[in-house]
Amino acid sequence: MSAHPFHLGPVLVGRRHIAAAVRRVAEGILDDLHAEAGGGELTVVSVLNGALVFTADLVRHLDVPLRIETVRARSYRGDATTPGDLALRMEDVGALAGRHVLLVDDILDTGRTMHRLRAEIRQRGPASVRIAVLLDKPARRAVEIEADHVGLEIPDVFVVGYGLDHEERFRNLPDIHELRGDGA
Ligand code: XMP
Repeated sequence: MSAHPFHLGPVLVGRRHIAAAVRRVAEGILDDLHAEAGGGELTVVSVLNGALVFTADLVRHLDVPLRIETVRARSYRGDATTPGDLALRMEDVGALAGRHVLLVDDILDTGRTMHRLRAEIRQRGPASVRIAVLLDKPARRAVEIEADHVGLEIPDVFVVGYGLDHEERFRNLPDIHELRGDGA
């Protein structure tokens, strides 16, 4: 038996497609902000660790005054690629009252992370709460939630790279790959 029963599969989304998707998401976010009445500045809330790379690229396309806050989400997985219980750590998030909040994550999968996070953020009195994700796997949704801004829809395959990991590996890859099990 090998140390890692999973290995890197083929590229699903290459870096040029990722870059184009990030630009599209940023344009949508800016359109929303410009349409917003009554002012209020932007706070980007990035879900660590997965959204680290996406957030870093995304905010460099957002030429408006903004703050960046982070929350830490960890889902304890029943097995290697199935999310289990969710732990959210957000004690370091600053004041959000009256601000336009943009929740940023790498992928919307079952939707449980964003569902929980949005509920917690809404309790802090923001002017608005929107969701931006690079990837969306609508086939996996378990709770009712949609992102306002989606870079790309993908099929129900487990992906790694561009911030996405498998047991903390592969986050540093510039392209998004499928993860394959042994024998696949
Ligand atoms: P939920 O199910 O709460 O999941 O929408 C969001 C979190 O689950 C992780 N996730 C993945 N991570 N490849 C990954 O590396 C995947 O295909 C994948 N699907 C879900 C991810 O951490 C995300 O924030």
